[in-house]
Amino acid sequence: MFVNALSEALEAPGDDALLPPGLLAFLRCATPDAWIAWARGNPETLLIDHAQCEKKAASTAMSLLYRYVNEPLLLTKMSQLAREELLHFEQVVKLMESRGIVYRHLSASRYAEGLRRHVSPQEPERLVDILIIGAFIEARSCERFARLIPYLDTELARFYRTLVKSEGRHYEDYLMLARHVAPGSIDRRVAFFAEREAELIVTPDTAFRFHSGVPA
Ligand SMILES: [Fe+2]
Ligand SMILES: [Fe+2]
Repeated sequence: MFVNALSEALEAPGDDALLPPGLLAFLRCATPDAWIAWARGNPETLLIDHAQCEKKAASTAMSLLYRYVNEPLLLTKMSQLAREELLHFEQVVKLMESRGIVYRHLSASRYAEGLRRHVSPQEPERLVDILIIGAFIEARSCERFARLIPYLDTELARFYRTLVKSEGRHYEDYLMLARHVAPGSIDRRVAFFAEREAELIVTPDTAFRFHSGVPA
């Protein structure tokens, strides 16, 4: 899966050109090199956890469809998102199958829960927070796919390039929806979650996952 290129010195830092404008500024920090090295040492876990993330993304979109039936724009976007994430899930599972990687259960990383524990209990703040967190998860996924591309084989690099585009669009949709449903400015909450998100990315973590921090 990972290419042991002769010319490691020539490796690009990532396919940042594919990222939507503003995404890198939205994230408070870049993925640390230590995580990239960790990913390169755990190619099977990376794909299995990636499959898990796609499934979870579809399920989050579905739960919003059930809970917020009075938000037409959200319903349309989340319905499209759920379908797209399930398609990604199928694509990852197919890729794993072709590579002889057995799909096994993995515990969830601390990342999503580490963000969701700060969600406001009352509405409409609750929905705004969930949508902002959605934007961070999509933005980080997008950034990580882009950072990994230089280290992947051709098939996986091609696949991840398509994902950079779609997860980038999901980040923009979540952010647009957060602004759409919020009664006022979301800047303060975005800044708050940006801090929490960056902490989860740069601090030591116990197990390697797609959204984990750095090795302890
Ligand atoms: Fe996805
Ligand atoms: Fe996504």
